[in-house]
Amino acid sequence: MEHGREKSRLKLLNLKAVSKSPMLQIGSLKLKSNLILAPMAGVSDFSFRMINRKFGCELAFVEMINCRSISHKSKRTARMLSSNSKDRPLGVQLLGCEEKYIRKALDAIKGYKFDLLDFNAACPAKKVVRRGEGSGLLKDPQKLKEILEIVVKNTNTPVTVKIRTGWDKDSLNARLVGLAAEEAGGKRGFYPRQDQGSRL
Ligand SMILES: Cc1cc2nc3c(=O)[nH]c(=O)nc-3n(C[C@H](O)[C@H](O)[C@H](O)COP(=O)(O)O)c2cc1C
Repeated sequence: MEHGREKSRLKLLNLKAVSKSPMLQIGSLKLKSNLILAPMAGVSDFSFRMINRKFGCELAFVEMINCRSISHKSKRTARMLSSNSKDRPLGVQLLGCEEKYIRKALDAIKGYKFDLLDFNAACPAKKVVRRGEGSGLLKDPQKLKEILEIVVKNTNTPVTVKIRTGWDKDSLNARLVGLAAEEAGGKRGFYPRQDQGSRL
């Protein structure tokens, strides 16, 4: 009885969410709803994605993939990339700053037929920004642009970039970074927060 009631409540929630949402288009990817499961390292695995899809989420992401790890073909990364035909549309998020590994990662994900590729220029974790990755790239918009050019040229998947408003309150360069990303051929994703204060 409880289970049945819960099921119809979810059905209602799904219908409401989908019918009220406008159609969203990111490059060639067309979505019927704007309910998107954010990429979450350590959280958005296959089971979590499928639960969220039951709740009406249309687009989901696999966990953030480090370009270095994927090019080393580790078992952990293979598990992170695993999916099936019901787990669609599906995006992948790449993290990195070294051209060699970015190219390798793009090559490695070709066979997975992702619907969207998001490049991470927003992760504030200390171990990430220390290497100049994630939001660390906001300090060098030209480098980020060059990386995005490589990404866009080497994939048929629509490319977005997740950025913050800037590295800190004294360098709010989201507009500049956004324009550079557009010039590189990316579709902009925007996460309106500064990096400072959220570094883990
Ligand atoms: C546990 C956890 C892991 C996350 N991992 C990532 C990640 O790998 N890549 C990313 O772009 N954002 C990551 N995020 C941020 C989310 O994608 C999303 O932008 C954020 O949760 C939105 O936060 P807000 O609603 O508090 O502003 C993570 C968030 C959480 C809570």
